[in-house]
Amino acid sequence: MKFIVIHGPNLNLLGTREVEIYGKITLNEINKQLKKIASENEIDLRIFQSNGEGEIIDFIHAQRNWAEGIIINPAAYTHYSYAIRDAISSVDIPTVEVHLSDIKKREPFRRKSVIKAVCVKQISGLGWKSYLEAIRFLHSSLLAR
Ligand code: DQA
Repeated sequence: MKFIVIHGPNLNLLGTREVEIYGKITLNEINKQLKKIASENEIDLRIFQSNGEGEIIDFIHAQRNWAEGIIINPAAYTHYSYAIRDAISSVDIPTVEVHLSDIKKREPFRRKSVIKAVCVKQISGLGWKSYLEAIRFLHSSLLAR
């Protein structure tokens, strides 16, 4: 199986950014864990981080003939990017939206996701393990196809 993992804006600063909310784990450490789990399950992962909306959309377009699943933490774009939402619905690839924190329990503007409706699942509040759960979910749902 071939999955892409997309980390949105400011997630490159994980480890030092708002550690009381996001914890001390760095993006490199998360990526290392994800690659390990992927290789144990014969999943090919391509991992991408960007602080730019257009770059995220371009990456989705560029990978659309390769990827069989998308795991995306759109970060702040979650709450207002109709362009990323449209990119996901344009490519017709099962997509899981993930968040480290529990967005339902945070400020009102974070409780709304404009991305959720075009995803097969939203996983939020499990720290870096939200990504892990997303890989597991996509893996088992594609196996069951
Ligand atoms: C986040 C939650 C978003 O509201 C926030 O803008 C982020 C990270 C999370 O993983 O918990 O940057 O997506």
